[in-house]
Amino acid sequence: MNRDPAPHHPLVQRLIDARQVTDALFSIVKPEFLYERPIRERHRIVFYIGHLEAFDRNLFDQRLCDLPAFDPRLDQLFAFGIDPVDGGFPTDQPGDWPSLDTVRAYGSRAREQIDRELDALTDSARVGRGGTQADASEQLLNVAIEHRLMHAETLAYMLHQLPLEQKVTDLREPVRTRGERGGELSSMVGVPAGAALLGMPRDGGRFGWDNEFGEMRVDVPAFEIDRYMVTNGAFRQFIEAGGYREREWWSDNDWAWRQAEQIEHPACWSRPDEDQGAWMLRTMFDEVPLPLDWPVYVSHAEASAYARWTGKALPTEAQWQRAAQGAPHAASGNFDFRSWDPQPVDAYPDNVSAFGVEGQFGNGWEWTSTLFDALPGFEAFPFYPGYSANFFDGQHYVIKGGSSRTARCMLRPAFRNWFQPHYQHVYAGFRCVR
Ligand code: AVJ
Ligand code: FE
Repeated sequence: MNRDPAPHHPLVQRLIDARQVTDALFSIVKPEFLYERPIRERHRIVFYIGHLEAFDRNLFDQRLCDLPAFDPRLDQLFAFGIDPVDGGFPTDQPGDWPSLDTVRAYGSRAREQIDRELDALTDSARVGRGGTQADASEQLLNVAIEHRLMHAETLAYMLHQLPLEQKVTDLREPVRTRGERGGELSSMVGVPAGAALLGMPRDGGRFGWDNEFGEMRVDVPAFEIDRYMVTNGAFRQFIEAGGYREREWWSDNDWAWRQAEQIEHPACWSRPDEDQGAWMLRTMFDEVPLPLDWPVYVSHAEASAYARWTGKALPTEAQWQRAAQGAPHAASGNFDFRSWDPQPVDAYPDNVSAFGVEGQFGNGWEWTSTLFDALPGFEAFPFYPGYSANFFDGQHYVIKGGSSRTARCMLRPAFRNWFQPHYQHVYAGFRCVR
């Protein structure tokens, strides 16, 4: 008899779908380069192949179901990523890691084990029929799904830094640009004084990470904000005006970093002929003339220097949130893996807030001037105490919105992301306020 396999619980299905997204990412890399480290602060690529599976195993075991250990050494080795603050970089060598066969065998065995248990669980209706046990199970599944999807984004910007010849390059996309347009992309809109709502209520029945609860109401005085994200074309003017050489636009820390690292331009920009000045941009699979109407992707330090140069500032998290009110955040935009690279900052006029601010969701995260910290009433997840709390350290800034590689589920207004101010590789740009 032919019987279709029973459908998975919707959350189990989403986990399976998310695995396809991350599997596809690893297949972009020519296998002989999977032990490379494209970003010196982060692990070698192979770590993440193991990490995504070890994370799910370590999370679910004893909480959602019993997953007897078959390789405790690898459960441990692949448990956590790294985020060293300025200075210390990892020094491990390729030979310090298990072989690809070993890592892949660990991964498939972990998946088989997890899938068998999850289907048994959902058949017995212990997931998703109300009641605390089911709610807790749904929360763990959401953590696994979103954790994996976050890595789908951080892996994308890591693979962005991998030399083009180390990738399978037939995924190249046409560049969508209409060139620089006269001042129309640099206009500002007014946001009247009013309340910004950060976070979301704990009893709202929706999934969120620990740092999204509880709620905070901030009264924000009237301000003006850029209608669009700052473009490559606008940022080029800052460079041409000597912005990277003038001490006065940079904070002490940022200037020290800029000097030590000899930073002269955004990470993906290059100028083959230093004197003639035609800038090129490295996209995910290509090297193209700088698209002037795309958002510029820079570190917090570079964004802050540009803002100071224009006599403006980066928005606070509350200003950003207030400006976004009324935006149909997940309706239309460059997100949910729609493209590998940005599109023009004005590509989605429907992605507009009640105040006329465009494109806050998708096409690039946006730096704020707010240090990442707990909202009032913060409680860490007992099963993952360090997820946010390890980064309430005064060394990370909040970014909001999302990029083309941010999954739809994380475009919710409450979602908060964070990075160190000198990290140039995130798909993050900014807009200014005054
Ligand atoms: C929330 C994106 C900053 O990548 O460092 C993944 C997400 N934490 N595994 C990161 C995360 C643990 C985190 N960010
Ligand atoms: Fe992780």
